Amino acid sequence: MAELMFAVPLLLLTLGLSSGQQSSSLWPLPQKVQSSEVSFKIIGSSFSIVDARESSAGPSCNVLQNAYRRYYEYMFGGNRRRWQNKNRQTGPSELSQLQVWITSPDSECDGYPSITADESYELSVDQPFAVLKAPNVWGALHGLETFSQLVYEDDYGAKSINSTKISDFPRFAHRGILLDSSRHFLPIKVILTTLETMAMNKFNVFHWHIVDDQSFPYLSRTFPQLSQKGAYHPYTHVYTPADVKMVVEFARLRGIRVISEFDTPGHTQSWGKGQPNLLTPCYTGAGPSGTFGPVNPTLNSTYDFMKQFFQEISSVFPDAYIHLGGDEVDFSCWRSNPDIKTFMVQQGFGDDYKKLESFYIQKLLDIVAATNKGYMIWQEVFDNGVKLKPDTLIHVWKGTQEKYQDEMANITSAGYRTLLSSPWYLNRISLGQDWRNYYKADPQDFKGTEEQKKLVIGGEACLWGEYVDATNLTPRLWPRASAVGERLWSAMDVKDLNDAFNRLSMHRCRMVERGIPAEPLIYSYCPREYNGI
Ligand SMILES: *[C@@H]1O[C@H](CO)[C@@H](O)[C@H](O)[C@H]1NC(C)=O
Ligand SMILES: *[C@@H]1O[C@H](CO)[C@@H](O)[C@H](O)[C@H]1NC(C)=O
Ligand SMILES: *[C@@H]1O[C@H](CO)[C@@H](O)[C@H](O)[C@H]1NC(C)=O
Repeated sequence: MAELMFAVPLLLLTLGLSSGQQSSSLWPLPQKVQSSEVSFKIIGSSFSIVDARESSAGPSCNVLQNAYRRYYEYMFGGNRRRWQNKNRQTGPSELSQLQVWITSPDSECDGYPSITADESYELSVDQPFAVLKAPNVWGALHGLETFSQLVYEDDYGAKSINSTKISDFPRFAHRGILLDSSRHFLPIKVILTTLETMAMNKFNVFHWHIVDDQSFPYLSRTFPQLSQKGAYHPYTHVYTPADVKMVVEFARLRGIRVISEFDTPGHTQSWGKGQPNLLTPCYTGAGPSGTFGPVNPTLNSTYDFMKQFFQEISSVFPDAYIHLGGDEVDFSCWRSNPDIKTFMVQQGFGDDYKKLESFYIQKLLDIVAATNKGYMIWQEVFDNGVKLKPDTLIHVWKGTQEKYQDEMANITSAGYRTLLSSPWYLNRISLGQDWRNYYKADPQDFKGTEEQKKLVIGGEACLWGEYVDATNLTPRLWPRASAVGERLWSAMDVKDLNDAFNRLSMHRCRMVERGIPAEPLIYSYCPREYNGI
């Protein structure tokens, strides 16, 4: 066995897969990496991840203990363990320990990640042990991911890691993935797989577009009729309070925030089934047509409902933000309804239905603000001139590059914080390497001052669900979303497409090895292919 191990580097070179290439497969690329050619063996049976003695996080810190187990599995799991002798001495060129040192007095072990969380970490791989230093657990999680990415393997399964120093932090605080569980119901398992893979790509926000026109799978304790009548199936196609709790905790353990979206006043057909009088009856000629439009903004009962509903939501989802939607409100139904017309006259709105929309949104924002939550909204709410709280996050999704850059400039010059999704609609697919376009888009690339650029908090890759369910979600999302992940994490000047291609190819194989069916970029192979199960 020993002789075989020495023969390995030569063999690898002849295959053109040098270990150097292997060890530079970091994704997303850290802010600062210093690597050397000094390499250490790293052997599962004699390697451990432990709390540093000075660390403020103890053995009761679930976030870390879970992560130690997870990353040990990623690095040494599976059926390829070769060294099982627990008593073997560690050799002089072997690394046997990673010590994790949380440096702030508050490790944040029992908290939730937030938009202001410090996600930085410093990693030093050297003898006698490697040290991962981070102010809190969120940075430590990212550092563990990076450490696991430094481990590379020869053809015989022997693992090594090079002496390396890394200091790292995200460029943007908000790095999200949007999933849509309304157009198709997404079983919990595929949501958890997404969260798992997000952590591998250092994403930190799961934007859960949980309900929409097509179905209402959220089981509300206050209004159980909403999913009873509005879900595709009232028992099999719903998210129970326990399901939601599980998603939120699974995400927390990976440093991911869960921001739920309950989009109104449009996109609410499914709400109407379980909540009578919530939606506006549309008229043809003099009578109701039997169809319904957006939420009826003229009734007091609407706001009573919203108040109770969002009180529940604000306690079920611990994040400081709720996404309130507000996109694509179709005015034709409001226009057809005589009661709405009367209300318009009473309010002095004339024929400007944007004013009616603003009237509704304004009231909704006040309701949500009273729950002490901040809100995110789609860009139309800003475009339509609704008065917003200064800490509102405005989510840009519309338009070609020219349009969205203009929009980002307008939003930031009005002093609001913003995030970008327009170039990252991953549900739109095309033949070839479309990840390159995702990679090239930059949320700070618009005409504006430095002050304006600072108001950009990040972005989200969106996977809308019209043509996506659990059968195709994961390969459609990864590794295409990984390109967005690096754009949002790494330094602005990390944009070499060839280098990105090489690293992303390896990162994609790493995801495959971890059991994630991430699709190929182009013809290629992985050391261990996805086995199709
Ligand atoms: C890691 O070390 C090996 C030799 O031990 C070297 O060939 C390789 O280039 C190194 N990788 C990096 C990224 O420095
Ligand atoms: C709705 O509420 C407003 C303000 O509280 C009140 O003035 C109005 O009379 C109410 N309308 C109805 C129909 O109850
Ligand atoms: C940005 O603001 C300008 C000036 O008000 C306006 O002409 C333009 O249409 C706005 N751009 C977008 C994308 O809304």
